[in-house]
Amino acid sequence: MRPLTCLIEKEKTSILVVDDVQSNLELMEAVFTKEGFKVHTALNSLVALDIFRKYPIDLALLDVMMPVTDGFKLCRNLKEISGKRFFPIILLTALTDRQSKIKGIESGADDFISKPFDPTELNLKIKSLLNLKTLNEELDHSENIILTLAVAMESRDPYTKGHSARVSKLSADFVAFLSLPEDDRKEMKKAGILHDIGKICLSESLLRKPGSLTKEEVEMIKTHTVLGEKLCKPLFSMRKILPAIRHHHERWDGTGFPDGLAGQDIPIMARILAITDSFDAMVSVRPYRDRRSVSVSLETIESEQYSGQWDSELVGYFLEMMHPLTKKDHRVNA
Ligand SMILES: [Fe+2]
Repeated sequence: MRPLTCLIEKEKTSILVVDDVQSNLELMEAVFTKEGFKVHTALNSLVALDIFRKYPIDLALLDVMMPVTDGFKLCRNLKEISGKRFFPIILLTALTDRQSKIKGIESGADDFISKPFDPTELNLKIKSLLNLKTLNEELDHSENIILTLAVAMESRDPYTKGHSARVSKLSADFVAFLSLPEDDRKEMKKAGILHDIGKICLSESLLRKPGSLTKEEVEMIKTHTVLGEKLCKPLFSMRKILPAIRHHHERWDGTGFPDGLAGQDIPIMARILAITDSFDAMVSVRPYRDRRSVSVSLETIESEQYSGQWDSELVGYFLEMMHPLTKKDHRVNA
């Protein structure tokens, strides 16, 4: 029997090389093939884009000075097509001036190398960018797995199904309404999905228990905040939302959990979640009560604005977002 060498055949890493000089392409193809890469070559941007759409390419090496569409524009196009996925691009140029490098960075290039190139230096740059790409993909996978888990956990219970997605959207909309930066909106979206992820560690019978809970059971449910933080902590991409997960049940007056933080000591993402989470719970059906209408829920929040549960200033903005017409009338009358 032939000895086994591996279970899954390793695919070669693919590099797209674009240069308008045929002899340069042949030279680079020979160099990179020798290094073990699968090489796709293109004499112009149109062919390059065609190859990029047809084959899984891991990295592109682009000549800058090309007729019709130069390397800067092609770089921008490839980055646009890649979307959120990290796709490394090296610009290969005879230009060494500062202005061209700035233009290259603006086009989204990840590195530069000057012509005539040193194959050892170029290979090192390629390998380092490919390592970065692998790391990015692994992070993406881990993040996606945990987001999927959050949705799967919720779908076990018909009363909470869709809650996190709604809280996520409402919280992100609120951040946009507050004119906070786009990055904050994205983090808030993630925090909304994952705020109750810690419940995955609690038994289904406890989460779905009808009727009132014992003191011990209430304490057990409260642990979902710290459990959620613990679950997400190993992921670097989750680091900014950990305070939101841990503190979304704190109260402005300091009587919440898990740490009894009060006022401004409660991270703002957690203060936002406290409002959106409560609002969504009010407008959803629960085993012990029917759904409340949006207007009744907003009235409840308004009447309890200074109850000590929430940041009253944020509640004011939330009501303004949810009641645009009512507030507009107030301003007109003032
Ligand atoms: Fe919660």
